[in-house]
Amino acid sequence: MDMCKGIITFLLVCVSLIERSDAALCGSIAYNPAFKTCCKGVLNNYRENACCGIVAIDHTVKSCCKGVVNNYKGNACCGTVPIDNTVKSCCKGVVNNYKGNACCGTVAYNQSLKTCCKGVLNNYRANACCGIVAIDHTVKSCCKGVVNNYKGNACCGTVAIDNTVKSCCKGVVNNYKGNACCGIVAIDNTVKSCCKGVVNNYKGNACCGTVAFNQTLKTCCKGILNNYRANACCGIIAYNPSFKKCCKGVLC
Ligand SMILES: *[C@@H]1O[C@H](CO)[C@@H](O)[C@H](O)[C@H]1NC(C)=O
Ligand SMILES: *[C@@H]1O[C@H](CO)[C@@H](O)[C@H](O)[C@H]1NC(C)=O
Repeated sequence: MDMCKGIITFLLVCVSLIERSDAALCGSIAYNPAFKTCCKGVLNNYRENACCGIVAIDHTVKSCCKGVVNNYKGNACCGTVPIDNTVKSCCKGVVNNYKGNACCGTVAYNQSLKTCCKGVLNNYRANACCGIVAIDHTVKSCCKGVVNNYKGNACCGTVAIDNTVKSCCKGVVNNYKGNACCGIVAIDNTVKSCCKGVVNNYKGNACCGTVAFNQTLKTCCKGILNNYRANACCGIIAYNPSFKKCCKGVLC
């Protein structure tokens, strides 16, 4: 026992001698790299082949993931956890016990079997997304995030339409193909007029309030239609100043 103590004492003296003689600096502390490891200025009292943050580790048996020591050797890190990425997936730092080829949010999946739409996984393969729903865009339409089981060539609000036979006026579908819209109604503006959003079944060249009229035949005074042509208005009455006078809005 005494002999042992002697050996230990000898070793300690020896080590301290080596430390002193073959010194490196860890921060301001001198040490011997043969026996200790300096990690980011912190001295670890053992010899290792790598550092994980301030901790010295054996990188052949441990992993360092985001500065966290793991007693498991993976081939990749998922957040602070090491994984075997040949059998697991890492999606946004979440470990999936499934090996996919893509991530949908934090879930790993197989792109040839499923479709991810805005972070929602659809359990079938599709070529497009409509909001969170996966669709086949060759047979369906997506209008403002609403799926239509009809393939149109345009959207009218949330409805898919064939715009060669229908019109869309302010988001309302018209089962008629016009060349203009009057409010929510489609019209043929070569035979109809639109006055303040009201359809007139007459093609005028001007509007008097909501009524279409022909300026060469009628006169509009303060929104009232006079059935004759005049070049002035006296209040709501059309008149010809060459023949009459207007006194404070009344003919006199
Ligand atoms: C995805 O699924 C396809 C079809 O079943 C398969 O061939 C492929 O190996 C899968 N890929 C992964 C990563 O699971
Ligand atoms: C207006 O009336 C004149 C005279 O009858 C006519 O020549 C013209 O074509 C009319 N215009 C419209 C737009 O109806």
